[in-house]
Amino acid sequence: MSESFLPRVRPRRLRATPALRRAVSETRLHPSELVLPIFVREGDDPVAIASMPGVVQHTLDSVRAAVNEAAAAGVGGVMLFGVPEVRDAMGSGATDPDGILNLATRVVADEVGDALVVQTDLCLDEFTDHGHCGVLDALGRVDNDATLERYSEMALVQAASGSALLGLSGMMDGQVAAVRAALDESGFIDTAILAYSAKYASAYYGPFREAVASTLQGDRRSYQLDPGNRREGLREAMIDIDEGADIVMVKPAGSYLDVLSDVAAASDVPVWAYQVSGEYAMIEAAAANGWIDRQRAVHESVIGIRRAGADTVLTYWATELAGWLNDGVVA
Ligand code: PBG
Repeated sequence: MSESFLPRVRPRRLRATPALRRAVSETRLHPSELVLPIFVREGDDPVAIASMPGVVQHTLDSVRAAVNEAAAAGVGGVMLFGVPEVRDAMGSGATDPDGILNLATRVVADEVGDALVVQTDLCLDEFTDHGHCGVLDALGRVDNDATLERYSEMALVQAASGSALLGLSGMMDGQVAAVRAALDESGFIDTAILAYSAKYASAYYGPFREAVASTLQGDRRSYQLDPGNRREGLREAMIDIDEGADIVMVKPAGSYLDVLSDVAAASDVPVWAYQVSGEYAMIEAAAANGWIDRQRAVHESVIGIRRAGADTVLTYWATELAGWLNDGVVA
């Protein structure tokens, strides 16, 4: 290189000032693109979740303030999970109109149903004593088609409770078609379906198991996807769109950005991603140790998910991050 060498192309030119950087920024976040997952337990007192600092199991009372705070911050919606006291083989609590999730849905729909998209987890794992996402057959295997009947029943109770968007997270074959048919037959033609299409069998769900006091023995590898499979994630999303999913999802988010990008490129419905409990816990733990800048890491982790193709991100930081966006401390 000669002493007088001058670069012909200077990408740094557009990075020189905050105003230039802002003018050429390709990805921005907006509060409406964030969804807050919320846990609601039976009982009188909220309970902290040790592996998810800052996240609690709410009560039917304390959840009111949480969803109002989310609405005030402008988040797009809340995804509700129920934590029941009693569980059984069929997950009866899931279809009891007065089961904790359905009660919570009524409370939240009443509180913020006009401002937010009230969403519910449609899966049996929080309600079964064995902790699996479906009912078991005589040999102890998850029975796909018997589970579809339970999901269809759940869908009707959740829709009647005021859920606007059902989050089908159980990874049973045919679940979108079965739930769509059940809803339509009962007149719930406007209740929408969010299909957790490419849901991987992930270690990052670890803290969630504490969050819902899961009793799971074994693992979910006979129904959730193998982390190494990229093509299969796209295939699952295409099947769900064909079955009538209104929105498809990739989960977890951060370790599956390639799958997210593939699905976003192929999908003609909105594509969402779920930044799961373990993704939250890792950043919180590192930040608590002073090893990373918490605010920047939270923001960067969600920006990465949006950049890869997610239209909306489910994240436990939804309300806090929306507040930062509103205050202009991040974009
Ligand atoms: C199933 C469900 C799970 C999560 C959301 N829905 C757990 C699982 O599939 O094992 C995990 C969410 C998280 O880890 O934040 N009902």
